[in-house]
Amino acid sequence: MTANAPKLFVKSYGCQMNVYDAERMADALAPEGYVETQSAEDADLIILNTCHIREKAAEKVYSELGRIRKMKQETGRAPKVAVAGCVAQAEGAEILKRAPVVDLVIGPQSYQRLPELLREAAEGRRPVDTDFAVEDKFERLAKPSPKAIASRGVTAFVTVQEGCDKFCTFCVVPYTRGAESSRPAAQLIAETERLVAAGVREVTLLGQNVDAYHGEGPDGRTWSLARLMRALSEIEGLARLRYTTSHPRDMDDELIAAHRDLPKLMPYLHLPVQSGSDRILAAMNRKHTADEYLGLIDRIRAAQPDLALWGDFIVGFPGETDADFEDTLAIARDAAYASAFTFKYSPRPGTPAADMGGQVPEAVKDERLQRLQRLISDQQAAFARSLVGREIDVLLDRPGRHPGQLAGRSPYLQPVQITAPGAAVGDVIRAVVTDTGANSLFAAPAGGARDILHEPAEATA
Ligand code: 5AD
Ligand code: SF4
Repeated sequence: MTANAPKLFVKSYGCQMNVYDAERMADALAPEGYVETQSAEDADLIILNTCHIREKAAEKVYSELGRIRKMKQETGRAPKVAVAGCVAQAEGAEILKRAPVVDLVIGPQSYQRLPELLREAAEGRRPVDTDFAVEDKFERLAKPSPKAIASRGVTAFVTVQEGCDKFCTFCVVPYTRGAESSRPAAQLIAETERLVAAGVREVTLLGQNVDAYHGEGPDGRTWSLARLMRALSEIEGLARLRYTTSHPRDMDDELIAAHRDLPKLMPYLHLPVQSGSDRILAAMNRKHTADEYLGLIDRIRAAQPDLALWGDFIVGFPGETDADFEDTLAIARDAAYASAFTFKYSPRPGTPAADMGGQVPEAVKDERLQRLQRLISDQQAAFARSLVGREIDVLLDRPGRHPGQLAGRSPYLQPVQITAPGAAVGDVIRAVVTDTGANSLFAAPAGGARDILHEPAEATA
């Protein structure tokens, strides 16, 4: 790294897939000499990696572009500015019109072309690349160096599937991320092996509809997500696997059995339901009823009783009555969530629900959101309290504030604070939960050093 290497600042909004994509953009630019910086002020290239899922998310991008314009005026610096992600995909050239500060617009299928587009931007053109379904996109992306992987920590994301064919009537994803496509299993095994060799201990498989994964297997057959996870489980040094986010319709028996049979698969499942009202579920085009969802949860818990179930909810979908909302509270209670993401319905232009009658007033949405959030935070606290006194494995992922203190994650994905002299980031240690905080657990090592279960894998960097 040279002192005057160009600096890259990527700001990501929205889902974890954008976190993964931000790393891929940094990887694509590393051969061009770019190094990452944590601040927009000293960057030579600022990339806003945007989210389009709700209105507020898209509006934030334009406010940020306004701040960048001001910052350029005040400091006299002239970084190039790129808009990437789902707003780029959805709005394309419109962004150039609305925000003159933007030098290039690039959709999620085109990140391997970033160096080329930057050269165009340097020549004063303002390129827009929102091509869809680019062949072999992932193969053509630059691979991160072991050093780059190690700098990102002991947990990593791997995108296994992109896009969605479900067309829930509220959702922009089928339009911004396109049709479902799965990466070949051999590519994913190689990527995971590379991560583990560089020190990664936990991998979260990502997809907008991850349980719909159906990639080409090395044996020439189509592999399911469960089959893929069986293969990944065999990678020595990998301690933990997770996957997110799933659609109830794609949770099949084989995937349910994986929760029973694969010790490395963490007892965590993010399975959105969105609403508890059959009428609203039908209007959302979710293609299942409330009872079918609860029946599915029963089958999953029969396979893995020790499960942290996370949900997603939308309140105030068009036509939602008080009675519909009561059904939502009821399903949240019955499903006994460990936690959930809760959203107010936000009309997205171009989606069927945006044009439906019966749009719910903002004040009603606010009130319903608050009631649902109270219920979910009670559930979250109850779930955390149920762990006090229990032994759990903690993957240490960060140093803590004080000497000997470390921070990590429980199997259920809660942050854990622990004092464990002699333990290191990357270790999985057996610990007793001693107390709960607002959003985290406190724990103490269950015994001596013998309880450090796995030494970190050798970093090759
Ligand atoms: N309004 C509000 N929430 C939405 N989500 C998706 N689209 C919308 C929308 N238009 C929520 C859903 C989904 C999560 C990623 O975002 O709950 O599961
Ligand atoms: Fe959007 Fe998920 Fe529905 Fe696909 S399954 S349309 S990503 S909410």
